[in-house]
Amino acid sequence: MNMVDIHSHFLPRTWPDLAARFGGGDWPSMKHLGDGTAMLMIGAEEFRPVTSACWDAAVRLEAMDRDGVDVQIMCVTPLLFGYHRPAAQALECVRIFNDAARELCAHAPRRLKSLCQVPLQDTDLACREVSRAMADGHIGVQIGNHVGPRELNDEGIITFLQHCAAEGAAVFVHPWDMMAQERMPKYQLPWLVSMPAETQLSILWLILSGAFERLPRSLKLCFAHGGGSFPYLLGRVDNAWRHRDIVREDCPQLPSSYVERFYVDAAVFSSDALAFLVKTMGEDRVMLGSDYPFPLGEQQVGKLIGSDASLPPRVRGKLLHANATAFFGLDVGAASMARGVGARCSA
Ligand code: CO
Repeated sequence: MNMVDIHSHFLPRTWPDLAARFGGGDWPSMKHLGDGTAMLMIGAEEFRPVTSACWDAAVRLEAMDRDGVDVQIMCVTPLLFGYHRPAAQALECVRIFNDAARELCAHAPRRLKSLCQVPLQDTDLACREVSRAMADGHIGVQIGNHVGPRELNDEGIITFLQHCAAEGAAVFVHPWDMMAQERMPKYQLPWLVSMPAETQLSILWLILSGAFERLPRSLKLCFAHGGGSFPYLLGRVDNAWRHRDIVREDCPQLPSSYVERFYVDAAVFSSDALAFLVKTMGEDRVMLGSDYPFPLGEQQVGKLIGSDASLPPRVRGKLLHANATAFFGLDVGAASMARGVGARCSA
């Protein structure tokens, strides 16, 4: 069975000293520890330990061969979005990471694909950068699910999404900058509670504000982590829309009717949740996404879908590769032929 993993992250091995370039103390950097691991730093603070899988194509390809993944689509970790920076600085930064992604993918161009990032705080610069990046080989763009107080129905972000539709750039929405973290100082609770809520919040902003009525149907939009809390609470939203006029004032159709306007990845880590997700979203709009190579990701990529005997093989094929192939316009046959080749070339 072919596999396309649409949700993975990378970090370049290193990048220019952004603090020296722009001044200020909270820029990201990598502190390499000499054993194939590194600490991702924010200013002087340790943010997250990372391994060479983040930046070494050979390590990634070896893991892909082990798990049977033909194509892996990578994007930066949201920490590097830089939406709070002055836009010109953010543009310089995203170009560093966008160009680094293309370098990483060049080790196995048929198997490693990338989503760019953009300075979403500035609509014009964001549109220009996604156009530049698409011409440079990226197959879409990853955006954060909000820019400070600006939600996905913000005028500038709507304009950006319309531009992405015109460019044929697939948009992957990743939750970040999670709500209510001051109440969640332990146990990685922001990742477990706020991230799914952030994604639900963003989908509801698009639905309830009527934004989907203004976005072209050609827009290819996908949300991470199975849409977060959205699928499970959709019945609650439909009920509220039916019985409260303040819920439906900007939303002409039943909220659940809008699920046909977007996709989700399958990173839900439970076969019961996966079955419910497929039932809610439809078998054409769920795609394998692992969050590789981070600890909160699927440790054997594709195992949840591939080993789920309750899903017919035809549906498993859609989730594992066919939906992503259509969504991103990929040639998985060529990637499958190249299995193992990239690993040898880059070794
Ligand atoms: Co992720």
